[in-house]
Amino acid sequence: MCGIVGYLGKKDGIKSVLLGLKELEYRGYDSAGIAAIDIEGILIDKKVGRVSKLEKSLKKSSNKYSLAIGHTRWATHGKPTVANAHPHFNTSRSIFVVHNGIIENYQEIKDLLIKNGYIFESETDTEVVPHLIDYYYNKINNLEKAFELTIKDLQGAYAIEMISTLNPRNIYIARLGSPLVIGNKNKEYFIASDPAAIIEQTNKVRFLEDYDIAIVSDKGLKVKNLRSNKASKSDFELLEYVSEESSLGKFPNFMIKEIHDIPKTIETALKGRINVSKGTVKLGGLDSVMKQLEHIDRIIIIACGTSYYAGLVGEYLIEEIAGIPTEVQLASEFKYRNEPISRSTVVIAVSQSGETADTIAALKKVEEYGVLRLGVVNAIGSSIARMTDAGVYCHAGAEKAVASTKAFVAQTTVLALIALRLSKSKGLLNKKVIKELDKLPKLVEEILESSDKIKTVANKYKDYKDFLYIGRGYNYPSALEGALKLKEISYIHAEGYAAGEMKHGPLALIDESFPTMAIATDSRLLDKVKSNIEEIKARKGPIITISTKGNRNISKLSDDNIFIPSTIEQLQPILVCVALHLFSYYVAESLGRDIDKPRNLAKSVTVE
Ligand code: AGP
Repeated sequence: MCGIVGYLGKKDGIKSVLLGLKELEYRGYDSAGIAAIDIEGILIDKKVGRVSKLEKSLKKSSNKYSLAIGHTRWATHGKPTVANAHPHFNTSRSIFVVHNGIIENYQEIKDLLIKNGYIFESETDTEVVPHLIDYYYNKINNLEKAFELTIKDLQGAYAIEMISTLNPRNIYIARLGSPLVIGNKNKEYFIASDPAAIIEQTNKVRFLEDYDIAIVSDKGLKVKNLRSNKASKSDFELLEYVSEESSLGKFPNFMIKEIHDIPKTIETALKGRINVSKGTVKLGGLDSVMKQLEHIDRIIIIACGTSYYAGLVGEYLIEEIAGIPTEVQLASEFKYRNEPISRSTVVIAVSQSGETADTIAALKKVEEYGVLRLGVVNAIGSSIARMTDAGVYCHAGAEKAVASTKAFVAQTTVLALIALRLSKSKGLLNKKVIKELDKLPKLVEEILESSDKIKTVANKYKDYKDFLYIGRGYNYPSALEGALKLKEISYIHAEGYAAGEMKHGPLALIDESFPTMAIATDSRLLDKVKSNIEEIKARKGPIITISTKGNRNISKLSDDNIFIPSTIEQLQPILVCVALHLFSYYVAESLGRDIDKPRNLAKSVTVE
């Protein structure tokens, strides 16, 4: 899950590509590289580390290149080294390739090429592409055809750009399973894995579909689909993209900025969708399928990571509020399960980026079942938003930190709205949920105001090596999400567990060195949680509780306590997770971690 960018025009291609790479660094940041061609010749530069290192090195070159491609990497094959960084090239350095995705049959191709005398410089799957193009070009002396033959030989997922001195004013492009968008402004063309990388330059875009190959040249854009074997006619569209204030402002990094965005995020997710006085919910994105939704008898929510935990809260909400049997499944497992799915089932894909390969693959699996596929997505115009039949945008704005915070809150809020919209009854619970939803932004403000207290607790526990998170009912998913956040950004081992499961095994872990974060907010299950806290205390396990303001009984039971404002248990995961996100943030900050770009991770996981 790398980021790729390209530029063809009359202006400074290096500058445009570097701008795009910086925007895409959330997709991978272990090395970066660029290749550019112009009358002065070729420029190729690759660096291990951030795009800023590449930029520094490129400053030395004074030439202006008006055709360039670039890459920022998240290693799938081969360590982060200069040799493994992209672009990769053929031995005579006339063909240069950047790639996002995984070529599953690369070893086979590599063996064929080695038999034909090709020498490989890297450990990557991608390096087979420039060599294979070279191999075909030497046979047929036609670069466009050689590119097409090469693409046809590849299996797996790819977004590829190729440039060559053999035809120095063309960029050759191919897409299967990895996102790719082409932007146009007069005679300039901008290529990227995500519109965010080119939106500052143009909102006139064209999203490539699976099996599309294209050539961008001074004559324009030519697209052909290898599956239909037809030139595809569709044109550019204007992307209604709100380039919002995505700078850090007074914040040191995006994670803490995005946590502080949450009150606004909830307001935006609710805007124009709830009417508190009437107790009604309107979701324009579902209007076109409401008729079908009246006849469903099962909902399957598919997602990964934090989105899966938002889905889990959604499961509880939809079952309790709309009374429809709902289950959440990990997209990477759902994809390969053989389970009966009837046409009266709806599949809801939850995704911040809208580009997660596992979730896309799971959605593709049910394509042939003819079931309704809905999306709860944050990224506008993303693959999942375009491949689902209908859906609801989260409108959380760009989320740049790898650790998802505001998007989780927006997803959970939207799933509450979907539960209310699907619920045929306009009973008491619905009105209560709508009223409480409306109060949430203020309640989150209260938690943000008590950040210092959470920071104090976090600093006290930063040196522990293990953590257990427990919760019951609606707060079981909160425990899972809290544990994931701590793992992701502090690298401390943490496990989220249903509190009732403790005595069935995890209790064996508990001693003075193994603290527990117990979510003990006011709910029908509080007494049960109290017993679990007692069980841990009896084994001298340090305990931090999250409890409801005004309830002093819980804080007496624990070593440290974090109060959160009172709300109904159906919406507690939103408030609890704001506190847990802050806790993990302050632990990671006190350990000096790279908060926005944790090691080994990327914001959008575009490979299975
Ligand atoms: C969450 O902090 C992580 N970045 C990760 O678990 C993420 O939620 C997961 O990769 C799903 O991403 P998506 O919401 O963009 O599909």
